Amino acid sequence: MTTDKHRKLIAGMKISVDGKIEGPEGAADWVQAWSDDYGMMSQVDACLLGGGMYPGYERYWTAIQNEPDKPVWITGAAPTRAEIKWARFAAQTPHYVLSSAMTSALWPRTSFVRGLEEIAALKRQPGKDIYLVGGAQTTSSLIDAGLVDELRLIVYPLIAGEGKALFAATERRRGFELQKVQQLQGGRVSLIYGIG
Ligand SMILES: NC(=O)c1ccc[n+]([C@@H]2O[C@H](COP(=O)([O-])OP(=O)(O)OC[C@H]3O[C@@H](n4cnc5c(N)ncnc54)[C@H](OP(=O)(O)O)[C@@H]3O)[C@@H](O)[C@H]2O)c1
Repeated sequence: MTTDKHRKLIAGMKISVDGKIEGPEGAADWVQAWSDDYGMMSQVDACLLGGGMYPGYERYWTAIQNEPDKPVWITGAAPTRAEIKWARFAAQTPHYVLSSAMTSALWPRTSFVRGLEEIAALKRQPGKDIYLVGGAQTTSSLIDAGLVDELRLIVYPLIAGEGKALFAATERRRGFELQKVQQLQGGRVSLIYGIG
C-alpha cells in the first residue's frame, strides 16, 4: 500500500540484454517460467494489460488453472509451483485490459479501460498498487505518459537478435533512479527503477 496520494503503477518485464521482450516467433522462449519473479503479489491488488498481450495471457493462465499438470505453450513444460500460485492469485485479482476495440474476456474479474484518463482514474482509487503486466507498446506508452511509477526488469543473459523491443515505440528520453539490483539464478539480473 502506498502512503502517497495515489496507488503506484509498477511495470514488470522480462527482457534480453538487447532489450527484447520476445523473439521473432512472438514468444520469449528463453523464459523458463512466467511466475511473479518481481515480488509483486504482496503489493498489488489489480493488474493492467495491453490488448495486444491479453489473448495470450488468457490462454496461458487459463490452461494452468484448468490443467495444472499439463505442459503449457511458450515454456513447453508443466507449470512451476510459483506459476500455479500466480494463476490462483490472478484469478482473484481484478484485471484491466487497455484496448479501444476489445469487448469480451474470459479471465475472471476482467474489464476494459479505453484510454489513459481511465488509468489515471484507477490510480486515484483507494487500494494497493497496480501491476502493469505488459506488453511492450503499453508499457512504453504509459511510461511516456508519465503514468508508470516503477519499472522492474529481469534481464536474461542473452542477445535475442530479431524480435520485439520493449522501448521501440518510446518517444522521449527519461531518466530513472536505480533502487535495487539483485543477481538471480541462471545468470539473470533483477533491476528495480523508480520513475520520477
Ligand atoms: N517479456 C515479458 O516480460 C512480456 C510481458 C508481457 C507481455 N509480453 C509480450 O508482449 C507482447 C504484446 O506486446 P505489444 O506491444 O504487441 O502489445 P500490448 O502492449 O500488449 O498491447 C498493445 C495494445 O494496447 C492498446 N494500447 C496500448 N497503448 C495504448 C494507449 N496509450 N492508448 C490506448 N490504447 C493503448 C492498444 O489496443 P487496441 O488496438 O485494442 O486499441 C494496442 O494495440 C505479447 O506477445 C507478449 O508475449 C512480454
